[in-house]
Amino acid sequence: MSRRYLLTAFAAALACSAAAGASAQDAVKIGFILPMTGQQQSTGKQEAAAIKLYMAQHGDTVAGKKIELIIRDDAAVPDNTKRIAQELIVNDKVNFLGGFVVTPAALSVAPLSAESKTPEIVTAAGTSIITEKSPYIARTSFTLAQSVVPMADWAADNGIKKVVTMISDYGPGIDAEKSFSAEFKKKGGEIVEAVRFPLASPDFAPFLQRAADQKPDAIFVFVPSGQGGAFVKQFIERGLDKAGIKIIGPGDVVDDDLLNGMGDAVLGTVTAHIYSADHNSPANKAFVDAFEKANNMRPNFMAVGGYDGMHLIYEALKKTGGKTDGDSLIEAIKGMAWESPRGPVSIDPQTRDIIQNVYIRKVEKKNGQLYNVEFATFPAVKDPVKAEQK
Ligand code: PHB
Repeated sequence: MSRRYLLTAFAAALACSAAAGASAQDAVKIGFILPMTGQQQSTGKQEAAAIKLYMAQHGDTVAGKKIELIIRDDAAVPDNTKRIAQELIVNDKVNFLGGFVVTPAALSVAPLSAESKTPEIVTAAGTSIITEKSPYIARTSFTLAQSVVPMADWAADNGIKKVVTMISDYGPGIDAEKSFSAEFKKKGGEIVEAVRFPLASPDFAPFLQRAADQKPDAIFVFVPSGQGGAFVKQFIERGLDKAGIKIIGPGDVVDDDLLNGMGDAVLGTVTAHIYSADHNSPANKAFVDAFEKANNMRPNFMAVGGYDGMHLIYEALKKTGGKTDGDSLIEAIKGMAWESPRGPVSIDPQTRDIIQNVYIRKVEKKNGQLYNVEFATFPAVKDPVKAEQK
């Protein structure tokens, strides 16, 4: 069936559902689509925990309306994501869609968001292009270029000359590879090899061997949240750390969820990212304490994306006085600014992408636990990919 036909069928279903359900809605429905099973389930678990924490802390009534949260499992399979989004829009008549842990899942829903004028709040996926695919998409996660351009600057300024890039072969990995390589070369660095491996169940060993043979100063790596443990384990097993090769990259590989299990071999690893559980601010200390108490685990950057996504939804409803049409909500979202556990953030009114600090961090031991300790800040970074297009 063609995409056009499917969209037409969706539009027809939408019209019927609007006619049938035109009664006044006192509740606001928020449908989060998250992978609670499958390869990306660690992210689903982090996001769901943060979303529920936000509601527990801020109540379930906003602008006089009751908030109804629906969480559905897509196992990060885009066909599921799309089918579930369609059900949520047509049957449940949700006012917001949220979540989207992998880029293909976020992209699969964009035409439905545009057609039905439903705000799609992307709280996890990071490929730059996502927000361009529907005027009703806004993002509280990050883009890969946001972190990797500062990473390239830091690496070039700190004696790293030869790099092999290693990435998961899909949207965010390709964004990371491109933006890092362009900036690093501009600063005089050399990319000696660019390695790509499949997103699903990668065996990193042969790829790591290829990288090691080049004797680089560092390997720049992007793997999605949840795969860092396996990557680092094989990096160490093959002796790359002992050979003096450093790991650099966006912080996904040394995700707070897994960092403690990686062992002392990762001490000193420098990455660039938007969030560390160790971020030194009262807002973050309160967030981490409450999250750990409620869930018995450390929040990672994905949890913060979910928490901020709920904040964006609550504040948008306050600004519209409870009006729930997509146009009013997306206007309310544009330009919104707040203090996140990660630091100050805002939504770029032009791109609906998040503007945020990027921190350079080093793995250190604190009270017997491993943390990414921030030591330098690139303030208020806009997505460099979109900034370049202007
Ligand atoms: C993505 O699919 O966009 C994605 C997933 C996990 C990450 C980063 C990006 O850690």
